Amino acid sequence: MAIIISGKELAEKRRAQMKEEVSHFEEKYGRVPHLAVVLVGLDPGSVSYVKGKEKACVEIGIKNTTIRKPDTISQEELLNIVNELNEDDSVDGILVQLPLPKHMDSDFIINAIIPQKDVDGFHPVNVASLYLKQKGIISCTPKGIMEILDYAHIEIEGKRAVVIGRSNIVGMPVSKLLLDRNATVTICHSRTKNLSEVTKEADILIAALGKPLFVQEDMVKEGAVVIDVGVNRNLETGKLCGDVDFEHVKEKASYITKVPGGVGPMTITCLMENTIECFLRHMEEK
Ligand code: GUN
Repeated sequence: MAIIISGKELAEKRRAQMKEEVSHFEEKYGRVPHLAVVLVGLDPGSVSYVKGKEKACVEIGIKNTTIRKPDTISQEELLNIVNELNEDDSVDGILVQLPLPKHMDSDFIINAIIPQKDVDGFHPVNVASLYLKQKGIISCTPKGIMEILDYAHIEIEGKRAVVIGRSNIVGMPVSKLLLDRNATVTICHSRTKNLSEVTKEADILIAALGKPLFVQEDMVKEGAVVIDVGVNRNLETGKLCGDVDFEHVKEKASYITKVPGGVGPMTITCLMENTIECFLRHMEEK
């Protein structure tokens, strides 16, 4: 039976540490970090994410401004908002909530955020920094996964890590972070042949493909560390569930994360870390 790594518990610890850190900023720098979030439309997932971000800001003492716009605004209007936030010296971090309405080009909007304020780490300059091992902003979910592994004292060096999923937001960056920690990394995807033969080799298995309960017990090696990045609705129960069949896989894994309460809480926590990082760099520039 696996040990459950609680991302929720780690998130609470990190948030308490950040709250303490931020409590000195007013005196030290004359103000606190400021995160601006832009929410276009009323996508229920996005509305709920944005609420979570606002709550975390309040908890830690970070100033938060949410700009809400109807999904009828034009791309040009959104671009103007981003440009104003870029130029606003009182703003340290900008996040445009995705997905954007269909008539907009998300890449174009993300690329318009100046890299120094890109708390999501989605701008090509920040993505390139990760791949070149240069200083930059690392996107929140991969960063949170690495913090979870470290929190549980999981040895990474020399281990075989298998990542299912090759998205720009999770699969690709977490693979690079694992590689940088000297794991031997394999990236699997929808066209991988004999997938379970590959996943069964994993000492560390990261499931980030977005399919409910996809990873079954027979795909996992005895004693593997299993990290579930999925956020899905279980089609039968309607409840939130991950990409891993937790109830069965937990019998085989040595460590496992749960959904909810695993990677999710660490994503928002890492967003707060990135906001503080952008703020501190902003203050250094002055
Ligand atoms: N939508 C779902 N997750 C995210 C995220 O991490 N950042 C942004 N900007 N949008 C999202």
